[in-house]
Amino acid sequence: MADTQKALGQKAIAIAQVRGPMISNSGAQATAQVAVSNPQAGPAGNVAPDGKQGSGGATSAHVIVLGNEKGGSGKSTMAMHIAVALMRAGFSVACIDLDARQRTLARYLDNRQAYAAAIEDASLDVPDLRVIERCRHGIVEVAEREEYDRFTANLTQLKATNDFVVIDSPGSDSHLSRLGHSYADILITPMNDSFVDLDLLTRVDPGSHEIQGPSLYAEMVWECRKRRAMRDRGSIDWVVMRNRISSLDAKNKRRVGEVLNKLAPRIGFRTAVGFGERVIYRELFLKGLTLMDLRENGLDVPLTMSHVAARQEVRTLINMLNLPALKGQEIAL
Ligand SMILES: Nc1ncnc2c1ncn2[C@@H]1O[C@H](COP(=O)(O)OP(=O)(O)O)[C@@H](O)[C@H]1O
Ligand SMILES: [Mg+2]
Repeated sequence: MADTQKALGQKAIAIAQVRGPMISNSGAQATAQVAVSNPQAGPAGNVAPDGKQGSGGATSAHVIVLGNEKGGSGKSTMAMHIAVALMRAGFSVACIDLDARQRTLARYLDNRQAYAAAIEDASLDVPDLRVIERCRHGIVEVAEREEYDRFTANLTQLKATNDFVVIDSPGSDSHLSRLGHSYADILITPMNDSFVDLDLLTRVDPGSHEIQGPSLYAEMVWECRKRRAMRDRGSIDWVVMRNRISSLDAKNKRRVGEVLNKLAPRIGFRTAVGFGERVIYRELFLKGLTLMDLRENGLDVPLTMSHVAARQEVRTLINMLNLPALKGQEIAL
């Protein structure tokens, strides 16, 4: 198991979360959550000493999983942006990359560390990362047991010392991917804005666009929700977000939107506004940067109006997640 650990100043235990039942309607408040302070650790403050938001540490991190069986839908890009946005808001964040074959999130973070070192910029925080390898043992039960042990050992450790754990999953159905999904408090599914991607969520009549039933990925999420409920009676708040939205194809955009809105209450997800198509994402990967890192000077990626608009999309996404540690406050990026 590749295990890249980077030193992170972890904060004291301060918040325990009590989760309530999920309401799955689009736009609805998805979880009833109560934050209570741990008397051992002192009062939970949501403003960190440096003036940023932040819980001051957590007993059990909120787990955010990025998942979609389709590759190239933006999971790793979103995972990186969400992790960095939460760190910049003062929370402690760790990441798990379950896609040990592509290692996109791991490479993104390596690029970040290398770039920060090259320009000697200590403000480019790098979250702690674990990459969980698949087990190649020939006996399926043995391999799955080993993967379970690897994953849960790492997750337990990271949950105990962080406010958030962000898990990036592979673009294929696998035992590790299902395991990761089943531990999600919140599952974010980015999908390209097309009927090709929609096909993984639902079968749609080609002529009328009527919904014919849940499809592969939706059934997988249903299974993971059952596993989660049986394990700890917890629920998974599922958010589907459209990515790479084109400003040109208004008709397709409207049709995909209509199907998603109809589907949301039927298979139990909320919809997020989503991210537009922007070339900047590819450029940011090479330097390990996110939209939130960009500023007027100091980095060799200029800050443009388009980047400011894109950053606002990230902010809107994070705020609609209703993350309990934010306690109803809006994240400031
Ligand atoms: N909103 C977007 N606009 C343009 N390119 C994007 C956008 N989101 C992601 N990309 C690019 O698409 C490619 C696939 O993204 P990635 O996050 O690796 O997807 P996944 O993890 O689902 O396979 C990357 O080159 C990434 O830079
Ligand atoms: Mg990926």
